[in-house]
Amino acid sequence: MRKKIIAGNWKMNMTFDEGQKLTSEIVNMFKDENITDVQLVLNPPFPHLHPVKKLIGDTKNVFLGAQNCSDKESGAYTGEVSAKILASFGVTHVILGHSERREYFKEDNSLLTEKVKQVLANGLTPIFCCGESLEIREAGTHEPNVKFQLTDSLFGLTAEEIAKVVIAYEPIWAIGTGKTASSDEAQQMHQTLRKHIASKYGQEVADSISILYGGSMNAGNAADLLSKPDVDGGLIGGASLKSRDFITIAKSY
Ligand code: G3H
Repeated sequence: MRKKIIAGNWKMNMTFDEGQKLTSEIVNMFKDENITDVQLVLNPPFPHLHPVKKLIGDTKNVFLGAQNCSDKESGAYTGEVSAKILASFGVTHVILGHSERREYFKEDNSLLTEKVKQVLANGLTPIFCCGESLEIREAGTHEPNVKFQLTDSLFGLTAEEIAKVVIAYEPIWAIGTGKTASSDEAQQMHQTLRKHIASKYGQEVADSISILYGGSMNAGNAADLLSKPDVDGGLIGGASLKSRDFITIAKSY
């Protein structure tokens, strides 16, 4: 059985107090409402990680993720944060290759390979993002485009390594726009990516990998998206900043 994962990407939002309040609300609702078959991953900005970890405590099935990490192991890289540092205080997941990092910080497929390796080497789970622009979607070349992002960044990994990766399919045109992919469009791409992984690593490995959908998922459309067989969860931006909406999404399976 694949893991069902609802990950909240706070992006560059939330002051310290706001982050504390949001986390407390989410953790309390998750416990009180008896959500048992879904994993939550909270991905706040770096300065929140340790205080958010304290609030999560030993809550079962609530995990802590970072939004990025360095491709380097350690050393004189001012301003960078390594996977090793993250792992040392309880971070378990790292979002890598988000389209905002690819676009604004010029992260390319080969850099992302190095980041994935750092994350895996430190025992953490990469949440590897991929997705196509509107231009590519309209040209009808979205499937080969997104498959290539996986091939180029991940297909040098061993089967054992790739089985530890979570994939997040995020069509760029759906991120923060309020325009989500239809559940059929999401299912189509997720199935294509799973087949692509199977073609290299075999069906068993492909079937074990959780593929999340991201892009304007919210409390209203989550149930439809999550009803699809190859949609194993969500990477949520805007709606992860509201505790009730985020928990409603987690309860939408
Ligand atoms: O990482 C999350 C995605 O970029 C989705 O963001 O839910 O605000 O569209 P969004």
